[in-house]
Amino acid sequence: MTKNNSYKHKKDPHYNRAKREGYRARSAYKLHEIQHKYQIFKRAFYILDIGCAPGSWLQVAKEHAIKNLEKYNDQYYHREEYKIMGIDLKHVTPIDSIEILKSNITDPETRQKISNFFDDKIDLIISDASINKKGDKFTDHLNQIRLCYEIIKLIKLFLKKKGIFVLKCFQGSDFKTLHDDYKKEFHIVKAYKPNATKKKSNEVYLIGIKKK
Ligand SMILES: C[S@@+](CC[C@H](N)C(=O)[O-])C[C@H]1O[C@@H](n2cnc3c(N)ncnc32)[C@H](O)[C@@H]1O
Repeated sequence: MTKNNSYKHKKDPHYNRAKREGYRARSAYKLHEIQHKYQIFKRAFYILDIGCAPGSWLQVAKEHAIKNLEKYNDQYYHREEYKIMGIDLKHVTPIDSIEILKSNITDPETRQKISNFFDDKIDLIISDASINKKGDKFTDHLNQIRLCYEIIKLIKLFLKKKGIFVLKCFQGSDFKTLHDDYKKEFHIVKAYKPNATKKKSNEVYLIGIKKK
């Protein structure tokens, strides 16, 4: 880390809080905010995290899945165990009771592995996957949209009816089309920028609620 970066981190309240609270990244608070606003983890037992490195969303997902097993052990929808899988191009330090795959989400082989791991449809899919930004906002936006469309293909394959899908996008020219396409898959779609997202970032999360 450069001197300049380390100075910026020290001034970042989310970075400092993540260090204090044992999260692997400040992004954990983005997911906490999404949860606070949309209750995405309600009755979520089978969870897939795409672009999971270094693992802070997995940490948050596990906290909720464990609570859910006890909280929702009733006559309504529940499962006997939780299953969480994280996928990333990068290596992720293992987390107990979580399956982590080092692979590309766009590979057909990865899909097969997802299917083998979950013996049923998934309750919640969260994707914080982002392309390696090159600096040109327009090209970065288009590359991210392309990745988003690849990830959206998983809705049909793996997400259960009434399931929830969280997808990171970048705002830009093609965002509206992506938003409209997302609306075809879900009863409710919200675009949300958490406070923990850096001010100058054009990142926004699409939250698809109740898959059709
Ligand atoms: C912002 S980070 C995710 C942070 C994570 N949510 C956390 O809280 O620890 C974005 C990740 O997306 C991953 N990624 C980008 N394209 C991917 C792809 N095609 N397949 C799998 N992972 C991908 C990157 O390697 C990167 O680690």
